[in-house]
Amino acid sequence: MNPKESIKDLYDRKKELESLSLSLKNGERLVIVYGVRRVGKTSLIRAFLNERDFPYILLDMKEIYYVHGSVPIKALYNAVAKEFVRFIGKVGSEPGFDLSEDLGLTGLLKGINEWCRARKLTFIVALDESQYLRFGGKIRYDGIIAWGVDNLSNVTFILTGSEAGMLREFLRYEDTEAPLYGRFRNEIYLNRFTKEEGFGFLRRGFKESGKTISEKALEEVSRDLDGISGWLTYYGYYRTVEGMKHEDAIKQVFREGSQLTLKEIEKVISRSRKRYIYILKAIVDGLDTWGVIKAYVSSNAGSLSDTILNSLLQTLIKLGIVEKAADDRYMIPDPVAVYAIKRLKP
Ligand SMILES: Nc1ncnc2c1ncn2[C@@H]1O[C@H](COP(=O)(O)OP(=O)(O)OP(=O)(O)O)[C@@H](O)[C@H]1O
Ligand SMILES: [Mg+2]
Repeated sequence: MNPKESIKDLYDRKKELESLSLSLKNGERLVIVYGVRRVGKTSLIRAFLNERDFPYILLDMKEIYYVHGSVPIKALYNAVAKEFVRFIGKVGSEPGFDLSEDLGLTGLLKGINEWCRARKLTFIVALDESQYLRFGGKIRYDGIIAWGVDNLSNVTFILTGSEAGMLREFLRYEDTEAPLYGRFRNEIYLNRFTKEEGFGFLRRGFKESGKTISEKALEEVSRDLDGISGWLTYYGYYRTVEGMKHEDAIKQVFREGSQLTLKEIEKVISRSRKRYIYILKAIVDGLDTWGVIKAYVSSNAGSLSDTILNSLLQTLIKLGIVEKAADDRYMIPDPVAVYAIKRLKP
């Protein structure tokens, strides 16, 4: 199901929209939006950008990566140039620099920055799933972004990522050696909906399609699907569009959702499949402390060193599949992923 395109279609997220607006108003140059899968990051950014008169570009780095097997700078250059040309065409203006030449991405951004500065505008470069920028080959995108942040007063970068740990690792802004070290940024965490928000989200959706949802159904949905916008959207769709009964709709979310989730998990674990599977199964079965996981994986998938177990766990955490709770126990935050993992075959 597609991300939302406009603020009127967006349920709530007022605080986050406000924070984005403030960043732009204050001329902040770097905004990072984190959030687990399917929580609504793309919807938030699209809805926000669609309401602006600013020129902007919104690109999905994951898509570019899947198309090219890397993130070629030419793909970014062409997309930015095309969008800028479209925007100046729309407002009936001239670029003021020679766009027929290949300026390189930084040259192009400089030109756009000047154009925007003369008009008191901001050009927004929104890069969705930007943890994929780490696949730039020789191109250091963190360096390019840092250069932009330092030099382009009228360009704001908005980076989002569903693999928060991966994105943080790419940005490395705590690492004194890294290009983005110490740069000011506005970090927005998009949380899953609370129980009340989830109720509001569903009630609104049902109302819009002229239907109602019982209190009991609301309680069960919030218990089973845990405020993740994407799953709530599926549930609402099955009920209101496909006319399913409550129980069937929930089952269908788990069935369909776990297919999606399994595909994502399979991609990640393929390199050390058996070990990953037993780690995930251990956590799902409540064998969720480090030592117990190690014993379980060793006895089912062969012995492994502490270093290897840590590295596998770290990868799962960076990808957001696993979380480590305050009491040092590991957990799987997405109920649909839990369902999927129970059905994973080693
Ligand atoms: N605030 C909202 N109001 C209404 N629908 C929403 C909202 N947030 C998300 N959705 C719906 O939830 C689904 C997932 O949203 P979206 O794709 O924006 O999430 P995401 O965080 O970008 O996910 P991913 O991690 O897969 O990229 C979409 O169908 C979208 O329409
Ligand atoms: Mg998204």
